[in-house]
Amino acid sequence: MKILIIGNGYIGNRCLSEWSDAVLSDKKIKTKEDMLVLIDEHKPDAVLNAGGVTGKPNVDWCETHQMETIIGNTLLPILIAQACQERGVYLLHIGSGCIFYGDSPHSDKKWRESDLGNPKEVTYSRTKWAADLVLTTLPNVGIARIRMPIDWLPAKRNLIDKLAAYPKIIAVENSVTIIDDMISVFHQLLEKKAVGIFHVTNPGTLKHRELMALYDELVDPNHKNEWITNDDLVKQGLATKGRSNNFLASENLLKLGIAMRDVHVAIRDTVEKYAKAKKEGQNSDKVLSC
Ligand SMILES: NC(=O)c1ccc[n+]([C@@H]2O[C@H](COP(=O)([O-])OP(=O)(O)OC[C@H]3O[C@@H](n4cnc5c(N)ncnc54)[C@H](OP(=O)(O)O)[C@@H]3O)[C@@H](O)[C@H]2O)c1
Repeated sequence: MKILIIGNGYIGNRCLSEWSDAVLSDKKIKTKEDMLVLIDEHKPDAVLNAGGVTGKPNVDWCETHQMETIIGNTLLPILIAQACQERGVYLLHIGSGCIFYGDSPHSDKKWRESDLGNPKEVTYSRTKWAADLVLTTLPNVGIARIRMPIDWLPAKRNLIDKLAAYPKIIAVENSVTIIDDMISVFHQLLEKKAVGIFHVTNPGTLKHRELMALYDELVDPNHKNEWITNDDLVKQGLATKGRSNNFLASENLLKLGIAMRDVHVAIRDTVEKYAKAKKEGQNSDKVLSC
């Protein structure tokens, strides 16, 4: 199988580093024709869209750069999908669990893959939900939603690095995505040309407090932070908009026989490997060309 990865960023490069059957394009796609050129050049069996606009230094950037965010997160996936449809190539698009805010209407509070998003007034979330809404009408397209990626390899975008750098951390609990598991699941979805929406989150939920307790135990016993509430984040001026916190049910992967590790098993393994990688000075930011 040959996979063409679009998006020379964090997730695209992490996948590339693990897949011997993939190429990554760093070309900026502005039109359907740009994407057709790439498909005709690489002749992939499947495309992974890891391109998009996530905001620098964070998603608050999207609140003042709405058009760039719409173009990157809504228009770009449509252009890629249009070209893939024309050439009959399967597309796996990376979505986000951040289209859901708070508890679902279900008794277990978890959002299902079939639930409609409630992206509130947050620009990033709206643009991601808009792409999901339209791409799910197409054949030969899968959407893999991830949340708060956590990796053993230190990186600015890794949730471990992000939280460890904050003097104040919100005490919240979420579904999360362990990157090792995600990379394997993405590859299986691409091989199967799986159609539909998939919540690529590890079973169980993780508190930021649990992650930081592991960090303090395994990485840096001298680490200290203050704990605040989710509401404090905006009240104290630490963010423009409140962040999405939620629990996702992952039901469609299981139907395909694809499993992810329980989050508490995976997180200890990941932070142990992270501690070793940090000591050795490994960092995925070094391989990123963006
Ligand atoms: N990382 C997370 O926490 C997270 C969580 C949930 C979902 N996701 C989703 O996962 C995907 C990848 O995220 P990421 O963390 O890897 O983001 P990232 O590091 O910002 O990478 C996205 C890449 O896409 C590129 N790009 C933007 N517009 C493009 C275009 N028109 N043509 C080609 N490439 C373009 C960006 O280039 P420039 O930087 O030059 O603009 C960047 O290299 C996104 O769809 C994101 O919404 C990420």
